[in-house]
Amino acid sequence: MGFREQIVNLLTEVTELPIEEVTLLLAIPPDQKMGDYSFPCFKIGGKKKADEIKEKIGETKFLSEIKVVGPYVNFYLNKSVLASEVLKRVWKEKARYGKDNFGNGKTIVIDFSAPNIAKPFGIGHLRSTVIGNSLYKVYQSLGYKVVGVNHLGDWGTQFGKMIVAYRLWGKGELLEEDPINYLFELYVRFNKEAEKNEDLNDQARAAFKEIEDGKPDALALWERFKQLSLNEFQRIYDILEISFDSWNGEAFYNDKIPAAIKRLEEKVLTEISEGALIFNLEKFKMPPVLLRKSNRTTTYHTRDLATAYYRLDTYNPERILYVVGSPQKLHFRQLFTMLKCVGLPEEKFVHVDFGLIQLPEGKMSTRKGNLILLDDILKKSISLASQIISEKNSELKDKEKIAQQIGVGAVIFADLGTDRIRDVIFDWDKMLSFEGETAPYIQYTHARASSILRKTTVKLNSNVIFDKLLTIEEYALLKKLYLFPEVIVTVAKSYKPHHLAHYLVGLAQSFNEFYHKHQVISEDKELMMARLMLVSCVKQVIANGLSLLGIHSPEEM
Ligand code: ARG
Repeated sequence: MGFREQIVNLLTEVTELPIEEVTLLLAIPPDQKMGDYSFPCFKIGGKKKADEIKEKIGETKFLSEIKVVGPYVNFYLNKSVLASEVLKRVWKEKARYGKDNFGNGKTIVIDFSAPNIAKPFGIGHLRSTVIGNSLYKVYQSLGYKVVGVNHLGDWGTQFGKMIVAYRLWGKGELLEEDPINYLFELYVRFNKEAEKNEDLNDQARAAFKEIEDGKPDALALWERFKQLSLNEFQRIYDILEISFDSWNGEAFYNDKIPAAIKRLEEKVLTEISEGALIFNLEKFKMPPVLLRKSNRTTTYHTRDLATAYYRLDTYNPERILYVVGSPQKLHFRQLFTMLKCVGLPEEKFVHVDFGLIQLPEGKMSTRKGNLILLDDILKKSISLASQIISEKNSELKDKEKIAQQIGVGAVIFADLGTDRIRDVIFDWDKMLSFEGETAPYIQYTHARASSILRKTTVKLNSNVIFDKLLTIEEYALLKKLYLFPEVIVTVAKSYKPHHLAHYLVGLAQSFNEFYHKHQVISEDKELMMARLMLVSCVKQVIANGLSLLGIHSPEEM
């Protein structure tokens, strides 16, 4: 049982308040001077009550002191009990420290990344990819069975456009040479010409109907576009070291649509409006869901309806997370409302939405204005990291590999370091800096801890004298290490990896303060052993934390 739970139990016993209320009231004071935990009594009798609580609890092993200040009871943990509990645990559990089993094998489906075939892998999809990947790892580490699905955008009217454009203007050699950019060019050209020639759009709708009806010619072109795009996307996933359990995208659901609509219609009424099949949401003050267009082709919404049924039937998940940008808020509100109307449990569906990434104006742009390619971003970040390494540590072994780990880590952290619902501003200098709230800063701290440990030949074990760790800096570190498992739970509950990112920045800062003030290697052998143990545990927790964000922790940099 953790310290917090123990204090909650004591308080519940002596106050006879419900445990839930005590849990809510017990706070962490902003200033360490006021203790590690603080219990406000102004609603239950003020100072008098506080004195009484202190009196009743009396002495306990894990608390060094209980102090009453005004209407507050402040609890101070026993430093050496804290040190011994947390360090022994990290030491014993190593990479497992922070893991838990409260998922108990239940399943979570995470729908993430989901780029669109034949379009460049944009920076918006980067957010979905890295947020989804981090949540994947976090849930897995909490004992859930996680199914990561790349719900590819590989179906829809835009493929009709692509097919028409390719039939009109396409050249096989150019397509093979640079598939995504070439397809995108054709797509842009199509849209431009369609502004002047409305007939093109009719052709596109007809071409999409051809693929939905399985006409071999159209289908073959679609397959080819898809395969070429996937090859390029895979390159990006390789750099990010991200993989998926399922690649069932929108196309996969084409033949499941009639059954899905039938299932829906068994529960609720649909309407025909101008030849199209819709589900009315007026009651909920939302526009209707378009289930089938008048030419009988399907829509993004219908495919998401079939997808939801399929996932529930196939995986029986406790929850399905859709990691998709905020512009699709309405889409998911409509979808979830419709699912609720057919009797599916609302709490199973979560839109994990996020804001935009903004780039410093004009710093990076491609031919198509502000369309920024992720590929370029990763390459640029890796090459900047490589420059920095050459300046700082030209002797470094495995320079290229480490430049990759730093460059990629910087991009991932630039994203995960901010609350996902806010916009992210990309700033090369800031994100690659070895100082401040960045991945390189945390990685550098990890490398520093590694280097301290490399310098000594003593064999560490957990029989150290924990009482030796007495300074404020050591105490701050110990408390941070102790909180790590809680932070992971917070990320899972809020679907927000930035809580972990912030925690790691704080841990790195505390470590650097400690390191500046105190000598680790010293004459006092007992002190040295205790400090080495602390350093080794900090290094372990940084590595565990970064890995949950999808970032490497190099030993040297
Ligand atoms: N491909 C879509 C897009 O880029 C995202 C798909 C998200 N997932 C879903 N089930 N709708 O906008």
